[in-house]
Amino acid sequence: MIFYFSGTGNSAWAARQLARLTGDAAYDITRLKELPDVQNAWQIGFVFPVYAWGAPEIMADFAKNLPRSGVFAFGVCTCGGDTGFAMKQFSKLYPLCSSYSLLMPNNYIIGSDTDDVGEIIQKLTAAREELRQMARQIRRKERIYRVHEGALAGIKSRLVNFGFNKFARSTKPFFATDSCNGCGLCAEHCPASAISLRDGKPVWAAHCFQCLRCIHACPQQAIQYGKATSGRRRYTIQTYLPQNEQF
Ligand SMILES: Cc1cc2nc3c(=O)[nH]c(=O)nc-3n(C[C@H](O)[C@H](O)[C@H](O)COP(=O)(O)O)c2cc1C
Ligand code: SF4
Ligand code: SF4
Repeated sequence: MIFYFSGTGNSAWAARQLARLTGDAAYDITRLKELPDVQNAWQIGFVFPVYAWGAPEIMADFAKNLPRSGVFAFGVCTCGGDTGFAMKQFSKLYPLCSSYSLLMPNNYIIGSDTDDVGEIIQKLTAAREELRQMARQIRRKERIYRVHEGALAGIKSRLVNFGFNKFARSTKPFFATDSCNGCGLCAEHCPASAISLRDGKPVWAAHCFQCLRCIHACPQQAIQYGKATSGRRRYTIQTYLPQNEQF
């Protein structure tokens, strides 16, 4: 059983690829009506994006509360650059036999622009090969720690991650511009159910996961986050997937 959380599709795609390559099933934790029978799983996997050099809170809470089953467990965090100690910290919530990071297109447009098309294609090509290798090692139950922690990992994963979760996750800067046509897709697809439509325009609840799906997936590119996201490219993995890998 491979459990995943994903904002813009990178982690969903990686989880689905790993499920296919290891003969397993992938579950979106935000869509689970009830928990599958983990006691009958022959492996447990977690796939998620790294947020400020840590695991997203929703994934950390899910893993902490998941009943332990004693089978081979692995974790993969997708990242735009480096992960700090995200996987070491996650392994304290749910003990992992193997940990990996997977370099994927960067979706954090609050910080900087997304990768350009060339970089995106390059990253996805390399990720396909890396996923094949991971799957081979997972099938053999090899114990691996292949994580690109980057520099200053401790400071990033402790101090910066704390600051991010405490101060930087505000929904206040979100707004929809006049390009919004009231289609409602942002509200429908928000994994935190944090968006509703008022007078045909989205409004945000006080808290959300900051997965940035709403910004990236709006067909009108009408959503902005303060001044930071104006003029920056949008990214979702769907644009780059062949027909047989769409989800
Ligand atoms: C709130 C937020 C924080 C992020 N922090 C990091 C980070 O610390 N390091 C990094 O390499 N990428 C970071 N990213 C980029 C994502 O981890 C990366 O693009 C990931 O593959 C997105 O996965 P998804 O498409 O499944 O949501 C961040 C993205 C978001 C939205
Ligand atoms: S998805 Fe975009 S266009 Fe549709 S309601 Fe939301 S902000 Fe408006
Ligand atoms: S409001 Fe936007 S950024 Fe926040 S959880 Fe929903 S889709 Fe993600």
